[in-house]
Amino acid sequence: MTSEESESRPRPAVALDGHSGSGKSTLARRLALALHWAYLDSGAWYRALTWATLEAGAATTSVADVLHTLSQIDITCQTDGTVLIDGRALVDEIRTPLIDTEVSNVADHQDVRKALTLRMRDLRARPEIMGVVADGRDAGSVIFPDAVLKVFVDVSLEVRAQRRFDQQSAVHSSITLPQVHDALAERDRRDACRGEAAPRVLPDSRVLDNSSNTPEEAVGRLLEWVQAIA
Ligand code: C5P
Repeated sequence: MTSEESESRPRPAVALDGHSGSGKSTLARRLALALHWAYLDSGAWYRALTWATLEAGAATTSVADVLHTLSQIDITCQTDGTVLIDGRALVDEIRTPLIDTEVSNVADHQDVRKALTLRMRDLRARPEIMGVVADGRDAGSVIFPDAVLKVFVDVSLEVRAQRRFDQQSAVHSSITLPQVHDALAERDRRDACRGEAAPRVLPDSRVLDNSSNTPEEAVGRLLEWVQAIA
């Protein structure tokens, strides 16, 4: 193979999937840093498109509105996972309670999922990138089905709810554990209705039980798995 051919080949991908609050984003970000690869935070892409749709005064429940918004923007990401829309880095704007509520509407539209997935895949063609660690619900099943390693990050609903409650109650003193539990259960329910894109253990995924690991232990395990393949 010529060096030009190897330059133009898509870079290898690792896919980490799991439910909301499983800690997959923390693990994917740290794994990407350890490997000097790019991090693709697919949830941030759905959040950013939700933000852009609302900014345009359009309805997230309308597939035509969301697709029109997508056709009007330049959406990409930095290697640390930060999503850029028309060159603007979106960080706090996409982590608000309004976006938390509206993002599921955007993610429910099949045609939007297809179009956004195509844009995400462009990351692997960038010549300066050695590889991509992607996280989401469908990173291994839909975004990168050819990933060299697919991992399902598994944590029970109860443990996820307790962890999220511990984080959020430090900021919002009025929040209760049952509220956090029910909100996560509702997101799980909506995610589970997305057919091929629903979070699940694939025939070729490994399962990482992340209930009691520290992030360091979990990333160490993931690095062992990647190195065993390389
Ligand atoms: O992971 P995060 O909570 O930031 O994702 C936001 C929302 O985007 C999720 O609740 C889910 O509805 C949607 N999503 C998705 N497919 C992905 C990643 C996220 O449908 N690959």
